[in-house]
Amino acid sequence: MTISASTLFSAATGTGGTQMKVPFLDLKAHHAPLIDEFDGAIREVIESSAFAGGPFVERFEQEFAAYCGSKYAIGVGNGTDALWLTLLALGIGEGDEVITVSNTFIATAEAIICCKARPVFVDVDENTFTMNPAELKKSLTARTTGTLGDAGCFSFYPGKNLGAFGEAGAVVTNDAELREKIQVLRDHGQAQKYYHTLVGWNCRMDGIQAAILSIKLPHLEEANLLRRERALQYNQAFEGIEGIATPFEADCARHVYHVYAIRVQERDEVRRFLEQKGIGCGVHYPIPIHLQEACRSLGYTEGAFPVTENLAEEFLSLPMFPELTEQQTEYVASCVSEVVGVEALV
Ligand SMILES: Cc1ncc(COP(=O)(O)O)c(C=O)c1O
Repeated sequence: MTISASTLFSAATGTGGTQMKVPFLDLKAHHAPLIDEFDGAIREVIESSAFAGGPFVERFEQEFAAYCGSKYAIGVGNGTDALWLTLLALGIGEGDEVITVSNTFIATAEAIICCKARPVFVDVDENTFTMNPAELKKSLTARTTGTLGDAGCFSFYPGKNLGAFGEAGAVVTNDAELREKIQVLRDHGQAQKYYHTLVGWNCRMDGIQAAILSIKLPHLEEANLLRRERALQYNQAFEGIEGIATPFEADCARHVYHVYAIRVQERDEVRRFLEQKGIGCGVHYPIPIHLQEACRSLGYTEGAFPVTENLAEEFLSLPMFPELTEQQTEYVASCVSEVVGVEALV
């Protein structure tokens, strides 16, 4: 089924002529109410010269650990560092297999490969889009290491629900030994200045990023609730429309909608139509990791993970951020319903 140019044209003129601009993400609107606090915090860091690691990072680590309900948080340079250092600290290395999904950002596989271990991909669940536990069980071997819940890794990339003003990440854990090892690894393997007990790397968090994150963290819950409200509005608007599959929230989970991804056929045409209507969209992600050129040597071929590969063709992320208004959401939903409805008739 193809959406023709003329169909697109009639759909494009079918919403009563009102055209709105709806960005995919609006960080400027998100930061505007806190701008004076950010200015003050940056000045404080400049005055104390605590730029790399130091008291602002330590304060944020305590706040973030408390927020996550874990004993410790270790601030690092970005989410990729968090994954890599955690694997290193757990002793993952050559000959080990780490089970993960291909329906994710490449950093997941990079962190494993950079430890000299092998990523073993498994397919995702059709509903949750996260790892299918039955597939996980099938892939366990004597070389699979680790268990569930030793540590959690976070990215504070600017567009995330809790985003820095540049790069930042963190590991949370309840394991004191693991915490200490990651603290040493993130700082060139030194527990004491210029005494290096391990070969590490420079993965420290910046003082300015920590100070910014400390200001934003108390607003995270409210921002997540606003995202959930907009997601509910989308869900209700799409209810009963054939051809639009909305995100699923498992009973055991609370979705915080970093992205609001629907599934539609002819995704690229639908995306083009929405862009013509002034709506920014994203695709997370167009090529699964096992089919990326960088991972060719792992030996996976097309068809290995059917659910993941279907999702990569059908996923479409709609505008989602706490400041998205009810009117904007309504406009996006009506444009999506319109174009997908037209497609169903073709
Ligand atoms: C699932 C996942 N893992 C890891 C990362 C990497 O985080 P960072 O960009 O902070 O290194 C990202 C970033 O988008 C991600 O989405």
